Amino acid sequence: MNILILGSGGREHAFAWKIAQSPLCDNLFVAPGNAGTAQVATNLSISYNNFPAIADAVRTNNIDLLIVGPEEPLVNGVVDFFQQQADLIDLPIVGPDAEGAQLEGSKDFSKQFMLRHNIPTAASKTFTADTLTEGLTYLETHSLPVVLKADGLAAGKGVIIAETLADAQAAMNDMLGGQKFGQAGSKVVVEQFLRGIELSVFVLSDGVNYKILPEAKDYKRINEGDQGLNTGGMGAVSPVVFANESFLRKVEEKVVKPTLAGLQKENIRYKGFIFIGLMKVNGEPYVIEYNARMGDPETEVVLPRIQTDFAELMLATARGELDRITVQVSAQTAVTTVVVSGGYPNEYEKGKIISDLDRLEDVTAFHAGTLANDGQVVTNGGRVLALTALANSLENAVRKSQEAARTVQFDGKHYRKDIGLDLIRYAD
Ligand code: AMP
Ligand code: GLY
Repeated sequence: MNILILGSGGREHAFAWKIAQSPLCDNLFVAPGNAGTAQVATNLSISYNNFPAIADAVRTNNIDLLIVGPEEPLVNGVVDFFQQQADLIDLPIVGPDAEGAQLEGSKDFSKQFMLRHNIPTAASKTFTADTLTEGLTYLETHSLPVVLKADGLAAGKGVIIAETLADAQAAMNDMLGGQKFGQAGSKVVVEQFLRGIELSVFVLSDGVNYKILPEAKDYKRINEGDQGLNTGGMGAVSPVVFANESFLRKVEEKVVKPTLAGLQKENIRYKGFIFIGLMKVNGEPYVIEYNARMGDPETEVVLPRIQTDFAELMLATARGELDRITVQVSAQTAVTTVVVSGGYPNEYEKGKIISDLDRLEDVTAFHAGTLANDGQVVTNGGRVLALTALANSLENAVRKSQEAARTVQFDGKHYRKDIGLDLIRYAD
């Protein structure tokens, strides 16, 4: 097969790294990719939002399978676009159509979906600009902290956890009255704050059948001890010790099955990943959010544990043949530490030379924001590298991943030194 992956982050490098190992893959392309994907695939300098250019690349390179990494093209209808091209209508694609991607693209849609199908989630109420006054009054009687979510895609910045009524009302005014979130803020979901521990479960759906992939925990804040600004993710661990067998069974029965049944009932033929963000509250799973894609950096710990041929798994997903596949998972622990540019998630400089990548031992260096420039690898984003170690114990995986983060060098380098430590100390 000739395979094309859309995206340019650590997630897409992990996809490419895994697929390049498959005997089923003849030629592998990534659009637009990064310096890491260039080591295992051919980068195409096409934006993943330029659908006609992607279709041309599919024709030119005789692509047999298309895998969509990020949420933006999915929500914008890349799958629907392909379904409208007479000559490409049968192209197998991993990724839901725009309707399915609403699970991520609209917080209100996903909330209503969970309510319709009895999926456990925080109690909530949705307000629009027209009901702003009502919303401000509603907040007066809501318990604190209270969670406010801008409806649309907001690149991880659409969720506010307000500790005071004044902050909550200011956030609602911002989202509905101002232009801060643009279209994304045309609706606000106000929801109860859940106290518990967070983890993510990943599901592959082929429209009829599903497979549950290894779970993961990510570390979202910029600094140790979960302090400071929210980021795309500073590290991840898989498996997650508090996701024991009985909890994962509950997740499958109370969340995964009703989600898949709900999609089918609503005639949404969902082919792709469903990333379920969960809060474990008193031993019970509650859905915080759905994403229509894999997580980043979660992919960088989930994929190294999957032993099944990944190209075969992706093709089966796109063709509705997941029932023929058994997903084999390694019992080892994977830990990734994300090395970021100084200043991230605020402003940061790009173009810093990355050195000592060749000194890394016993880890896989997934590139996130990198660029190959005149024979050198330079920084090209906030999150630069995800350094994944696989080991027989969580302690060893943490040690190896952290050692790698210490070893690589670039001007302004920052990383968290406590990835996975809470799980080493964790006792149920
Ligand atoms: P989201 O963009 O939906 O992933 O939300 C960002 C983060 O906000 C989540 O990862 C949680 O840590 C937190 N969060 C979202 N909803 C809730 C909730 N209902 N209760 C507690 N924390 C939440
Ligand atoms: N790491 C969180 C995400 O991919 O949304």
